[in-house]
Amino acid sequence: MSKKFYVTTPIYYASGKAHIGHVYSTVAADITARYKRMLGYDVMFTTGMDEHGQKAENSAKKESKSPQNYVDFVSEDFKKMWTKLNIKYDKFIRTTDKNHKEIVRKIFDKLYEKNLIYKGKYKGWYCTPCEAFFTEKQIKENNNLCPDCGREVKWTEEEAYFFKLSEFGDKLLEYYKNNPEFLQPDGRLSEMIKFVESGLEDLCVTRTSFNWGIPVSFDSKHVIYVWLDALTNYITSQGYLSANSQDFEKYWPADVHFVGKEIVRFHAVIWPAILMALDLPLPKKIFGHGWILFGDGSKMSKSKGNVIDPEILCERYGVDAVRYFLMREFSFGEDGLFTNEALINRINFDLANDLGNLVSRTISMIDKYFNNTLIDNQRFVNSDKELLDLVENTIKNYEINMDNFKFSMALSDVWLIVSKCNKYIDLNMPWDLYKNPENHDRLACVLYNLCEAMRIVSVLISPFMPETAVKIQEQLNISSEICTWDKIKNWGELPKNTTVNKSVILFPRIDVQKELEELENIISNNNNGNNLIKIDEFFKTELIVGEILECEKVKKSKKLLKLLVHDGTKNRTVVSGISNYYTPEDLINKKIILVSNLEPVKLCGIESQGMILASQDINNNVKVIFVDNSVPAGSKIS
Ligand code: MSP
Repeated sequence: MSKKFYVTTPIYYASGKAHIGHVYSTVAADITARYKRMLGYDVMFTTGMDEHGQKAENSAKKESKSPQNYVDFVSEDFKKMWTKLNIKYDKFIRTTDKNHKEIVRKIFDKLYEKNLIYKGKYKGWYCTPCEAFFTEKQIKENNNLCPDCGREVKWTEEEAYFFKLSEFGDKLLEYYKNNPEFLQPDGRLSEMIKFVESGLEDLCVTRTSFNWGIPVSFDSKHVIYVWLDALTNYITSQGYLSANSQDFEKYWPADVHFVGKEIVRFHAVIWPAILMALDLPLPKKIFGHGWILFGDGSKMSKSKGNVIDPEILCERYGVDAVRYFLMREFSFGEDGLFTNEALINRINFDLANDLGNLVSRTISMIDKYFNNTLIDNQRFVNSDKELLDLVENTIKNYEINMDNFKFSMALSDVWLIVSKCNKYIDLNMPWDLYKNPENHDRLACVLYNLCEAMRIVSVLISPFMPETAVKIQEQLNISSEICTWDKIKNWGELPKNTTVNKSVILFPRIDVQKELEELENIISNNNNGNNLIKIDEFFKTELIVGEILECEKVKKSKKLLKLLVHDGTKNRTVVSGISNYYTPEDLINKKIILVSNLEPVKLCGIESQGMILASQDINNNVKVIFVDNSVPAGSKIS
């Protein structure tokens, strides 16, 4: 039976579009999942959306959508982005899933029955964007602003249910002591120990100040506060407390939860306490990664001179380049600064020059010197042994680094092979060997060794850059059977007679200056015209001239007028909110511009079949746009 491995990302707040920092945990989790699958593990990899709470409710309001509509839309957006980034998750959980909601309620009931949840009153400083309460002391220390995001906080008092977190302090400390590896990287655990030792307060787990959440089964004016709802996704996704619990039995406890450093506290204190309260085993590891910081040193800044939309970056450089950059440039446990220039430099140096060049020059030489086919005689000399030893050691180190989530180190080790190979070419000078037919066996051996090294490199990079790995294997024309974890441990798996394919450029070199200028343009277009639309989008709107035949006030409304408009072929009813500015007499027999292909809507019980255009100045004065009476009704406006 194969061993299992369960890896998770945080579930993302459904409140807006993701930036490059957001994708960090998920790319890391995908790489880990692919690596473990490669090693033969039965992997469960989950990600998803945190869809309840005031933040989602507010964002929905801003867009005049229902919360459900809004989170449906955002979730789809995230899913599309994960597809683009080549993220192969096994389950995508949404906290609005029926199954999740049911189980969260059962968990709440269970904790209530065990007397670990009770009703009380909450008073404190609340930060809406962070959905967190803070104590007087925490706020004071931060100029009366939210200690996490620096925004304003509100004094809030409400009746609420509490989870008896305070009862778990000693148990948690005991657990940390016995499991020093529980929280990684080193350093984060001592912070947590200090936090727990300073005394835990009971945790508020419901709200009455908003509705968008899971109602408590026995007290429906309370909705379950997001952290209890969100953290439990890691077990509800596996079918805990449901009829279908095989995955839970198989995969729980999780092997690692990847989380950003600001939510370590929730994962290393609250989550274990909830699990202890439910008598469930704890996850084996929490890894709190660092932040990707932007121009102004903050983690959430909107683009300050950097393109941070992951989709734009993937379109310009390819998904593998973006994945590689994220994992190579930053040390996973620490913060790092994102710049366009650093990204382009990595692509140029590591991918185009080092890796891309190695592959293309090797394949071209096999083409040039041996008409695409190698026949190897395997006569090793010293420089070959050095290469072989390096490869062997790198595979060992790679495994250690990957198992410890030291992605950047794993990659930099793989690049030792890449640069060794480039040096190996310079040292052996294939072009010189070719000059003398007596050296052709040696030349074949050199090229064979390079192909072998590339086969191994392709497998080692495959969790990070799955498309590039396949492209290299295609150029080498080797079967996937020898591109496995077990097979890279044997030097010489590549058949002695190898016919390679034509070389293709893996990563085109980027003109740094030109590219930086283009990125600047993208940023200023984004900043100046977030709402730009394409011409074909504009042409979707049908505008025609209409003639107002009749007009009357809508009885139940102060604002609305009901108009009968002739559109050139028929009459239609249009309801318009201009009653404060026009009397029916002002409008009858006038020609106006009508949006004629709007989906009908009901306003005050009347179906409106279109909309008339009006202008609104800065003082909110509304003026209907009248058209010269000589223009016939039904004329198109374009
Ligand atoms: N919904 C909660 C998590 C609940 S998990 C039970 C949440 N969501 S989030 O959308 O705000 O953040 C999701 C992840 O993105 C977090 O791990 C967060 O640290 C990460 N990041 C957001 N911005 C980031 C950077 N700039 N850099 C690295 N990771 C960052 O928190």
